[in-house]
Amino acid sequence: MKVLSGIQPTGRFHWGNYFGAIRQYIALQGQEQSFYFIADLHALTTVRDPAVLRQNVTDAALDLLALGLEPSKATLFRQSDVPEVTELTWLLMTITQMHLLEKCHAFKDKKAKGIAADAGLFTYPVLMAADILIYDSTTVPVGADQIQHVEVTRDLAQRFNSTYGETLHLPEAYVLDDSAKVPGTDREKMSKSYGNIIPIFDTPKKLRKTIMSIQTDSTPMESPKDPDSCAVYQLFKLFSTSDQQVALADRYRAGGMGYGEAKETLHLAAMNHFGEAFERRTRLETTPSEVEDILKQGAQRARAKAVEVLERVRSACGLSARPV
Ligand code: ADP
Ligand code: TRP
Repeated sequence: MKVLSGIQPTGRFHWGNYFGAIRQYIALQGQEQSFYFIADLHALTTVRDPAVLRQNVTDAALDLLALGLEPSKATLFRQSDVPEVTELTWLLMTITQMHLLEKCHAFKDKKAKGIAADAGLFTYPVLMAADILIYDSTTVPVGADQIQHVEVTRDLAQRFNSTYGETLHLPEAYVLDDSAKVPGTDREKMSKSYGNIIPIFDTPKKLRKTIMSIQTDSTPMESPKDPDSCAVYQLFKLFSTSDQQVALADRYRAGGMGYGEAKETLHLAAMNHFGEAFERRTRLETTPSEVEDILKQGAQRARAKAVEVLERVRSACGLSARPV
């Protein structure tokens, strides 16, 4: 299995990102190919402050490594460190039909809201197709919202192959299990665009404050409560064994426990779960050159493959071999 996925550095990673994506990237490391990159070129369609982008990329790398991505089992790199990707994007663009991009949701949603879109947002799925196709990837772990883009990737590979002969491999989406959508502090789906996130790596004090702000209903302390409709309990489930879940659910139903106490229990469980990763991150922060080396070595490995595939593509469409 040749695995590849990218994650955009558009803000602090949160519990939704971890349980819905990052945890599953980590489970898929150690395959024949496990490539994961920080999609900084894609992020440029929304992040327009260079200092913020730089900080986000650093944070993304620190988070992924601290959470358990191991450089010996997975190749971690920055998207923009593999310039072959942008060249392949152009080559794919020449065979991309406009209508294919017009129906992609990021662009369509913006248009529906009457917001002018940049060409970058419009052609975003072509860059994503290049990301995938340039490594001959077979398996692309993505959230449900990205399946459409993997379909576009397959369409483009097919169109390229039917125009120029068998050159590109068709990938498959590996749909990440985010069916149990992680709720945010306002009980809606956790998302940075809703301002309701719980960041993975806040200090225990900040984390406690965020957890205490999770919205609950106004059932009085002494009354029985329904665990299943409570975001605190839903979040606790992510961190606990079934015995622990039953124990807390029983306490909800028995009454006499306030939401504050349930939140304290969640806080403890989260600190236990991420405690080691938090320490690893704190250590990695003090050795930025180590992190930079990991990204550079990752890019080198990824580029070796990208150069090979790009040569194949260039030759297929009649461009000369690149001078060395
Ligand atoms: P955000 O909604 O905060 O902008 P992204 O869209 O960048 O997050 O998320 C990247 C991936 O993280 C998604 O494709 C999805 O797999 C996962 N993810 C994000 N939020 C959640 C959530 N609340 N529950 C489950 N998975 C999520
Ligand atoms: N578009 C993806 C997202 O927003 C990130 C991404 C960019 C990606 N290139 C990719 C994911 C290639 C998988 C494969 O989540």
